[in-house]
Amino acid sequence: MLGDTDFLVIGSGLAGLNAALRLAAHGRVTVITKRQLSDSNTAFAQGGIAAVVAQDDTLEAHVADTLQAGAGLCREDVVRAVVADGRKAIARLVELGVRFDVQNGAYDLGREGGHSARRILHAKDLTGREICRALVDAVQQHDNITLLADHIAVDLITLRKLGRGREDRCVGAYVLNTREQRVDTLRAKATLLATGGAGKVYLYTSNPDVATGDGVAMAFRAGARIANMEFFQFHPTVLFHPHAKSFLVSEALRGEGGVLRRRDGSRLMQGVHPLEDLAPRDIVARAIDQDLKRTGEDYVTLDMTAKDPAFLLARFPNIHTACLALGIDMTKVPIPVVPAAHYMCGGVVTDLAGATDLPGLYAAGETACTGLHGANRLASNSLLEAAVFSDRAAAAMAAGVRETEAALALPEWDPGRAADPDEMVVVSHNWDELRRTMWNYVGIVRSDRRLERAMARIELLREEIDDYYWNFKLTHDLVELRNLVTVAHLIVASARARRESRGLHYNTATPELSHKPPHDTVIRRGTRGALQLAEPDSTS
Ligand code: SIN
Repeated sequence: MLGDTDFLVIGSGLAGLNAALRLAAHGRVTVITKRQLSDSNTAFAQGGIAAVVAQDDTLEAHVADTLQAGAGLCREDVVRAVVADGRKAIARLVELGVRFDVQNGAYDLGREGGHSARRILHAKDLTGREICRALVDAVQQHDNITLLADHIAVDLITLRKLGRGREDRCVGAYVLNTREQRVDTLRAKATLLATGGAGKVYLYTSNPDVATGDGVAMAFRAGARIANMEFFQFHPTVLFHPHAKSFLVSEALRGEGGVLRRRDGSRLMQGVHPLEDLAPRDIVARAIDQDLKRTGEDYVTLDMTAKDPAFLLARFPNIHTACLALGIDMTKVPIPVVPAAHYMCGGVVTDLAGATDLPGLYAAGETACTGLHGANRLASNSLLEAAVFSDRAAAAMAAGVRETEAALALPEWDPGRAADPDEMVVVSHNWDELRRTMWNYVGIVRSDRRLERAMARIELLREEIDDYYWNFKLTHDLVELRNLVTVAHLIVASARARRESRGLHYNTATPELSHKPPHDTVIRRGTRGALQLAEPDSTS
């Protein structure tokens, strides 16, 4: 038994660490992270964080851009609340030691697709890393925060699963200590899921290895509602090179005048959208995908060569160095790029306080579906959402503590008759098959037939992975694979349920917007783990 904590935070990106710092004023906090503290989606964010700080920008404009990108599915109250909290969120990060770039005494603001103004605060092209640096420093100095690296949550503990209490409630988690290969019980008065995204469900992704949708999968198994999983954002420009793993080429480059070109040098976005290279991400990614399929080429290029080399080196030192290490000098030649899975717009349904519908369980950051992004996230709104909602969730967690469960004895993890894993090839094979299936059948452009094929394969994989899970001792990879197959299942079920094309979800069988009122796709766990779709309900 790991013991008791007041607040359990699962995940160590911006949402997790900011909440931990807030919660530390109210009790003991335990942060678990499955690799090291600095391994999170946040750390990989290059572009920055959107907020209205410029004199000539307005909250209304940011709201309008967010609603426009979200294609009719944003919750307007949430959009307004998050945008309004933007300045406060930035002030909080600065107070924690984050150093955003400044020019002539004002924030140096970048521009990205879908934004009508320059409003992206950044730290060169390493914004996420700078935010993580400051937050990790702050949590490490805090006496009330225990940090456990190499600890991966296996499942949430709920009163329903324990067969106790009249009402269900999350009372902690079972956690695999991967250094000692032991599953511990961690009891908590309130738990925050801040596990980031799930890009690893696809073969090609801009996400780090840790992005395996753990929070969504655990919340689903615990009975919380999951929404809008069909809306998976593909970033248009990830570096194309055999030795480049998941390397993002930030949209901020197009914000500074970068141009997408075909291999023959012609401009790709001309005539596709009035904003051309700064069109919303779904439109750019789809245009590249279509062009690659039509021409049979492997990549398109992002041309920065018209820009002053000194500017490029100063503004994008990280991207310049990474490209140069692979023999690509972006000041002289266009950068080869392809789209790749980038951001999960759906997730665990929360209210404006970050509370899920399972009492005691909260979610923030990419794991959550708050209603901000709707059918498509506006660039750089994600760090803003993580900062705003981790504050809100922490406040709600502190206020909602109930002491009644504190005395409840929780059973230790029961490994049953699990044997040592005999064939790790089962895990690696299924991992590969799952990600290929998702890439080929559930990618940027979908069809009914491909979704049906994907579902058939995923159901078989799910059975096999479940069987392995119950019969063999847990490993880190097995826990992640089980979560990935659950997330894939949720994505495909949601995609099949949406009988229209909207935002990031494009199905050739239903290429138009439905004339019915916009609705979320909401799924919860039915009997024996089956997926149960809620009746479509107007979002307005
Ligand atoms: C980027 O730098 O292009 C990523 C920004 C984002 O995904 O919001």
